[in-house]
Amino acid sequence: MKNSDMKGEKFMKTAIVYFSAHHGNTRKLVEGAKSRYPEIDVFDVVKEKPNLEEYDVIGIASGIYASSFGKPLLKFLNEKLPVGKKVFVVHTSGVNMKSYSKTAVNIAKDKNCEIIGEYSCKGFNTFGPFKLIGGTGKGRPSEKDIKAFCEFLKNKIV
Ligand SMILES: Cc1cc2nc3c(=O)[nH]c(=O)nc-3n(C[C@H](O)[C@H](O)[C@H](O)COP(=O)(O)O)c2cc1C
Repeated sequence: MKNSDMKGEKFMKTAIVYFSAHHGNTRKLVEGAKSRYPEIDVFDVVKEKPNLEEYDVIGIASGIYASSFGKPLLKFLNEKLPVGKKVFVVHTSGVNMKSYSKTAVNIAKDKNCEIIGEYSCKGFNTFGPFKLIGGTGKGRPSEKDIKAFCEFLKNKIV
């Protein structure tokens, strides 16, 4: 296993693949963590289809659309998530329901991956009727959410 040294902390070689189509909420969360932990490789699945074989740990991150992770991310995972990896699952959504991780977790489990953790928080949401009231979750993910996500990463992959 190849480790890398981040600000004195030993991390397993980690990639996060994300999909963020609504307000860039998930991108904000993931890029916020990347600026704290630059050696994590971060990929927007719309722009890049990385080879995940070389990673010890893979993060799967998405906004939630009709209770599901983004379809382009799920398609990529179905086709390209290697078997037997350590996986963590991340989402941002309007109401932050734990069960929203299911669509991604199921694919990872089908590939005999080990789910090492799940992180989620609210994200700014102006979908449908919420637009009429100026949206919900303004400012989310917040700096506090990003900090909590960094803590999660530290606990899970150091
Ligand atoms: C088409 C659409 C469907 C959505 N469906 C849900 C939903 O089922 N549950 C929920 O809590 N939020 C829902 N949301 C809100 C998003 O999950 C939330 O704004 C999320 O943070 C978006 O992430 P993103 O900006 O990274 O795409 C939906 C948003 C859109 C645009």
